[in-house]
Amino acid sequence: MQTMTTYENVLTELNQKVLTITVNRPDKLNALNAKTIEELHEALIEAENDKEVRSVIITGAGEKSFVAGADIAEFANYNIEQGKLLSATGHFKLFNFIENFSKPIIAAVNGFALGGGLELAMACHIRVASENAKMGLPETSLGVIPGYGGTQRLAQLVGKGKAFEMITTADMMNAADACKWGLVNYVVPLPELLQKCAEIAAKISLRSPIAVKTAIKVINAGFNNKFNGYDVEIEEFGKMFGTSDFKEGVRAFLEKRKPSFNGN
Ligand code: COA
Repeated sequence: MQTMTTYENVLTELNQKVLTITVNRPDKLNALNAKTIEELHEALIEAENDKEVRSVIITGAGEKSFVAGADIAEFANYNIEQGKLLSATGHFKLFNFIENFSKPIIAAVNGFALGGGLELAMACHIRVASENAKMGLPETSLGVIPGYGGTQRLAQLVGKGKAFEMITTADMMNAADACKWGLVNYVVPLPELLQKCAEIAAKISLRSPIAVKTAIKVINAGFNNKFNGYDVEIEEFGKMFGTSDFKEGVRAFLEKRKPSFNGN
């Protein structure tokens, strides 16, 4: 296992091409303060630059909470400008950053995922929840609205009607219902959560890194009204034919062997 940067509020562990990032403020239920967002950003940049890392798992420390939201104490006295900056910085450094990351990021939702915590999980590409997980966007109970992409991504995942209900009532959803509504892909007992995520990650590690990166880009393009997803798909599909991963993947199939991708 190689040495990685040490952070104050974030733990990182690289194991079999999968970087697990743990938000580590259990006494505050892993609430996201500015320092934690900055450290997550830095850990992700490190993951981006490390060719050994093929996917990332994000989880929360302890058995009670994934992330219980943005740190309410930190923004309690913010004014309008500071509020806007808080949201914009979060989008830029963490939430959009994760969504557009070149390697798949899996949220291992191990308890409360509220407000910024659910927004963090929703920015990830894949979500797996433990049976004890509770998810919601309770911001309207604090006199505010979701500011880290929740108004947009919740509607994309559960549909507009359920998103209206969840955000206006501030109700939490349990893990079974979250799976029913498509908010998470799987629900497993808490002790099996990281193993389930590792199994998904292990499959990703077998695939072509450049094809996986391109697939993330094209899927996201379809949800970005600046682009026509189909046009982006045609363009990116064509480019794949110029990669050595494509040549290797096809050659391996024809030679009836497993491919060995180099990501180029
Ligand atoms: N921001 C800052 N601190 C938070 C926090 C948040 N979002 N969520 C929890 N904490 C802190 C609590 O203040 C408490 O700290 P303290 O021990 O120093 O007082 C500690 O974490 C434990 O939380 P507590 O509320 O005592 O646990 P609980 O089991 O009674 O309740 C929750 C759990 C998740 C229901 C409750 O903590 C909660 O509602 N948190 C806020 C969720 C929220 O509104 N998130 C959206 C923010 S925009």
